[in-house]
Amino acid sequence: MKITFVSHGRDMADPTAAAAMPVFEDAPLPQALASAIERATNGRFGGAPGASAVFLAPAWLDVGALVLIGAGPRAKLDDAGFERIGGEALTLASTHGLKGLILRLPEIAPQAAAHAALGARLSAYRFHRHKTKPKASDTVSVATLEVEVDDPDACRDAFAPLDGLADGVFLARDLVSEPANILHPEAYAVRMKALDIPGLEIEIIDEAGLEALGAGSLLSVGLASPYQTCMAVLRWRGAADPEAPPIAFVGKGVTFDTGGISIKPAAGLEEMKADMGGSAAIAGALLALAARKARINAVGVLCIVENAIGGGALRPGDIVTAMSGRTIEVINTDAEGRLALADGLTYCRDRFKPRVMVDVATLTGAVMVALGLDYGGLYSEDGALAEALIAAGQAEGELLWRLPMPESYDRHIESLAADVKNVAVGIGRSGGASIAARFLKPFAGDTPWAHLDISGPAWPTTSAAPTIPAGATGYGVRLLHRFASSFEDTAP
Ligand code: BES
Ligand code: MN
Ligand code: ZN
Repeated sequence: MKITFVSHGRDMADPTAAAAMPVFEDAPLPQALASAIERATNGRFGGAPGASAVFLAPAWLDVGALVLIGAGPRAKLDDAGFERIGGEALTLASTHGLKGLILRLPEIAPQAAAHAALGARLSAYRFHRHKTKPKASDTVSVATLEVEVDDPDACRDAFAPLDGLADGVFLARDLVSEPANILHPEAYAVRMKALDIPGLEIEIIDEAGLEALGAGSLLSVGLASPYQTCMAVLRWRGAADPEAPPIAFVGKGVTFDTGGISIKPAAGLEEMKADMGGSAAIAGALLALAARKARINAVGVLCIVENAIGGGALRPGDIVTAMSGRTIEVINTDAEGRLALADGLTYCRDRFKPRVMVDVATLTGAVMVALGLDYGGLYSEDGALAEALIAAGQAEGELLWRLPMPESYDRHIESLAADVKNVAVGIGRSGGASIAARFLKPFAGDTPWAHLDISGPAWPTTSAAPTIPAGATGYGVRLLHRFASSFEDTAP
């Protein structure tokens, strides 16, 4: 979709386009329009948020449709509200098959107009590359978006970084949507290598490299996969000092999770192609940071592996040695994410000495039982770090809820045979997500650290908002991007 910002007052004559505008509950419309709306909607459209009215081929305007979006009271509309308006306008224009959308935003600040354009772009995402004959309903009819504003230049400037953010969200959605026969670990590495963003450094540590590093925990997950396990290291160095300690992210990149020998039940198993959602969010955030040349050093360590089954697979009872030297008794091969992250955390901490380290993973089903689909679980013993992550998520509409990770739960993962075991035994699923966080903690060492368990919001089945079409959400990209950005120009 081509997006442009233009001035008002053009002669609007395009029967293939929809004209759309917000209607505020407390701002009167021109009399003629107000009475047309009154008649057509029987008085039921007053500009409430979530409400809309569509006039197809209105007699008084030379456009294919007039789309009115309820915007609530004028003073209450924030950037997120403008995103919703852009998303709803785009969705309605596309539902009616129009080829263009003209979004009229008179007297709207450039930042708000830019967010409306972002909302429209985010809502226009579809993943249909494997459909040989996509139906009209699979695609978005709108190919051009013209945003009519007071100051097009200022809007363009405000939109540029948001456009990069949307690129990052789309990268994450693409990676999560792609099935595991296509996005297997080696293909994932190739895709990362192919990211062509000036200044974004990409490095792949292949299986031989991981063996040399002693990554016995990560490698154990991939034993039965025909594909090489790897780490992808993404670096953006935009700070004044390129050697200054970075903000670091470590992602779970399990391209498919069968459960391994502790095999998962069949129902819903296809969703386990999305078990790399944490790593995808990190890749998207790094892309967005690089696209706007953020003045910050950031690094992403993606732990990319397939949890397959086969004769060579990791077994329950096996003891593996992690990169840190810690030994792990594998009780359940389906608790593989923490095995992968353990070595990612060690590697990241040892090599980059980061200011803070945040891991992101679709780690447990238990977190979904606690929080549902709209919140990621946040675990950290660092209160300020937790607050900063929650605030970043709140600002971007990617919500986090802090959950406890008490030291007392360490007793559940004490092993008779090794330093630790990978799951609790004898307490069912009690505190499963908290115990996973406890498992990870020693691998973070004394680096300020937080763990985000995003099983719920990474892959809901239905659309949660107009800007998030059904399917992969790209959850985490915006949150991580904002969190990293909050360190801009602050000396370590
Ligand atoms: N990838 C899963 C977690 C998951 C489940 C994400 C459902 C999204 C939807 C993870 O590897 C896993 O299997 N976790 C187990 C842990 C258990 C064996 C302690 C789980 O949650 O059941
Ligand atoms: Mn698993
Ligand atoms: Zn998993």
